[in-house]
Formats: sequence, structure tokens, C-alpha cells
Amino acid sequence: MSLLKIDSISVRYGAIEALHEVSMTVDEGEIVALIGANGAGKSTLLKAIVNQVPLTTGSISFRDEVITTSARHKKSVPTHLLAKRGIALVPEGRHVFADMTVEENLDMGAFFIKDQDLIARKKEEMYDFFPILGARRKQKTRSLSGGEQQMMAIARALMSSPKLILLDEPGLGLAPLVVQDIFHKIRIINEQDKVTVFLVEQNARMALKNSSKGYCLENGRIVLSDTSSALLENDKVRQAYLGE
Ligand SMILES: Nc1ncnc2c1ncn2[C@@H]1O[C@H](COP(=O)(O)OP(=O)(O)O)[C@@H](O)[C@H]1O
Ligand SMILES: [Mg+2]
Repeated sequence: MSLLKIDSISVRYGAIEALHEVSMTVDEGEIVALIGANGAGKSTLLKAIVNQVPLTTGSISFRDEVITTSARHKKSVPTHLLAKRGIALVPEGRHVFADMTVEENLDMGAFFIKDQDLIARKKEEMYDFFPILGARRKQKTRSLSGGEQQMMAIARALMSSPKLILLDEPGLGLAPLVVQDIFHKIRIINEQDKVTVFLVEQNARMALKNSSKGYCLENGRIVLSDTSSALLENDKVRQAYLGE
């Protein structure tokens, strides 16, 4: 079943068309990768999904309900309500609250949960899954390394028990071993917790190695889509994205 369906969406920033009639689907339980160079429109696509930029064409459905649309007569669902419905975004550059502790950041991820016991349980789950966060729970986030901050941003998103997690360049600016560690965690989240993952990356190799299906975005247009293993073998992908 398709969990997320993006149907021919376009987004403009004034004179620039950042996305042009983009369509894609994310099925329940899979990891889908969107690869593309800097400026291709990847972050814009994620912002469109969570209704942070308006669409000029098309619509987006989540669990068969329209959540974001260019149609004037129909209202899009605001970002904070999408979190309640089960979509969590880990934005590019992580956007952690640097002056808050790890624990306070995790609390922010559970902003709409009233049940304090549930929040406490979720936090313990996160500390088990990311032991480094447990060890640093009372520390200000700014004292964490880039990799630890990325893990915290992912943990914060998981606090709301999402059905779909959107990851904007989780490997950006991190050392290769740290990137591997993060992708390993992403796979566990997908396999064990059954969270569907949509990840956008400039690091095409890591993204395609850790996904089942992939799309390539160039200048706001989808130019290729296939299984990730086929894309890894594709000549165009190898030249343009894998540097071979
Ligand atoms: N707020 C904005 N205002 C104007 N142009 C923007 C804005 N955000 C992004 N853009 C432009 O839209 C295009 C796509 O940007 P973005 O979605 O951030 O790409 P990516 O995430 O793939 O690097 C780029 O040309 C970028 O300069
Ligand atoms: Mg981006």
C-alpha cells in the first residue's frame, strides 16, 4: 500500500521553479531514497510534504488522505498536525535546540503527547537505542559532536512514534564512519520499529545502498527512478552521482 503519494507537484520561489511536476510514491515499510546535487530541490520537496512551502500544482496524500494541495478550495494540513498524524521531519542541518539539554530536546519531539509515563518510556527507549544520548542526557546539545547531534535529531523525531520519517541529508558534513553508523541506525528503525523512511541525500552511494527504491532529482525534475540496486548499476547514475 502506498503510504505517501506525491502527485505532480510544483513549487516556486518567485521566479525560480524549484520543483516541476514531481511525482513519486513511498510504500509502507520501505526505505526510499531521493538523490540529487546541491540545489536540485530535495529540501524543497520535504518542505512541501510537511506543508512549509505552498504548491503551485499537484497534491500530496498520506494514507490515502490529501494533506497538501495546490487547490484553493481545499485546506492543507499544518505541519504540527502532520506530526500528530504520523509524519516526522528531521530537517537539514539538524536544527537542534543548542542551549537545551538532550533530554529537553527529546521532550520537544513529544510536544503533543499528554501521557507523561509514555514520554518517559519513549525517552528510555531512545537512550537504549542511542547510548551516547543516554550518557549525555543532562548536557547542553551544543556540546555534542555533529554525529551525536544528528542522532539526537533522529531520536527527537522518533519520540512521536511516527509512521513515516523524512530525513534531510542525515550524513551531511559527517565523517564516513559516523555516516555508516547513522545509516545502520536508520535501517534498524525501519526493520525493527517498522517506520517507513524517505531520505534525501547528496551522498548517493550511501542512500542507494540503504534503500529499496530510489529517485534522482535534477533541477526540480525527477529524471530517473528504479530499484536502488538497479540505480547503483546505472551508467548515468554512476557517472553523475557516484563519481565513477
Ligand atoms: N527560501 C528560498 N527562496 C528562494 N529560493 C530558494 C529558497 N529555498 C531554496 N531556494 C532555491 O530553490 C532551489 C532548490 O533548493 P533546495 O530545495 O534547498 O535544494 P537541495 O535541498 O536539493 O539542495 C535552489 O535553486 C535554491 O537556491
Ligand atoms: Mg537541501
